[in-house]
Amino acid sequence: MTTSRRQVIAALGAVPVVAAWPGLARAQGKIVLGFSQIGAESEWRTANSESIKSAAKEAGIELKFSDAQQKQENQIKAIRSFIAQKVDVIAFSPVVESGWGTVLREAKAAKIPVILSDRAVNEKDDSLWVSFMGSDFVEEGRKAGRWLLENMKGKAGDVNIVELQGTVGSAPAIDRKKGFEEIIKADPRFKIIRSQTGDFTRAKGKEVMEAFLKAEGKKINVLYAHNDDMAIGAIQAIEEAGMKPAKDITIISIDAVKGAFEAMMAGKLNVSVECSPLLGPQLMQAVKDLKAGKTLPRRIVTEEGIFPMEVAAKEFPKRKY
Ligand code: AHR
Repeated sequence: MTTSRRQVIAALGAVPVVAAWPGLARAQGKIVLGFSQIGAESEWRTANSESIKSAAKEAGIELKFSDAQQKQENQIKAIRSFIAQKVDVIAFSPVVESGWGTVLREAKAAKIPVILSDRAVNEKDDSLWVSFMGSDFVEEGRKAGRWLLENMKGKAGDVNIVELQGTVGSAPAIDRKKGFEEIIKADPRFKIIRSQTGDFTRAKGKEVMEAFLKAEGKKINVLYAHNDDMAIGAIQAIEEAGMKPAKDITIISIDAVKGAFEAMMAGKLNVSVECSPLLGPQLMQAVKDLKAGKTLPRRIVTEEGIFPMEVAAKEFPKRKY
């Protein structure tokens, strides 16, 4: 039985899927890509969405873009609607790692290839996706840890760290914690005294940092934030508590978005580890390759650097996001 358009719209619920029904695009010989985005929780995510939309336009690919507003259930609904619409390829950035098996098996049964973009899933059957493109989050955590160890070399006594984690259950939150801990455990002076999620947002980063400051006050030597937005929110909390960010508390974060460079140039953030959101062009290339019958690499890792505050002013004009 074929699925009617009305059934698909009902299955979609409140999830906004931008773009027309794929029939017209197909008639024009266009490839149709369904992309389920997590939401707009950070400056990084906004740049990522923009990269995907502009690269699709440039590549002449019909993009059906769905914003899940941070909810896994919305991503699952969007993927089901892409399957029902028989798109050529599905790509998505999974908000959390687990719970994707059923919907990915549905895509496989419908013979629609799936590409994981930015974040990984935790599923045993790796035949459920054809490729995963994005950063090595464990390595990002390691880079943050190595910078800290190097920059605290001369400091005597304990180094008390508070950690703002990303979204609970998400690949970057799990991996960035793991990579950072792997490095700092080499020196027992480095202690994570508080660790809580700030959900990758400025507002939550500020709120949780306020609580950390209330509980630990001047004991805090270092803030490790899993992204720049939470660090920027926390900087506000530190200033409101009458302390100097990047001086009284060393601040390390991840993403290297423009907002982080502005904070570094203002002397309020010590370092940001790069995580590039500019995945659009390589995603479109992968979609085209798939349609041309090519086999994609199972893993495509993004090359990234690290930017301490000392280089921020020089690097800022070159930043694209
Ligand atoms: O998955 C990438 C992470 O998600 C970015 O570091 C963060 O800013 C975003 O929300």
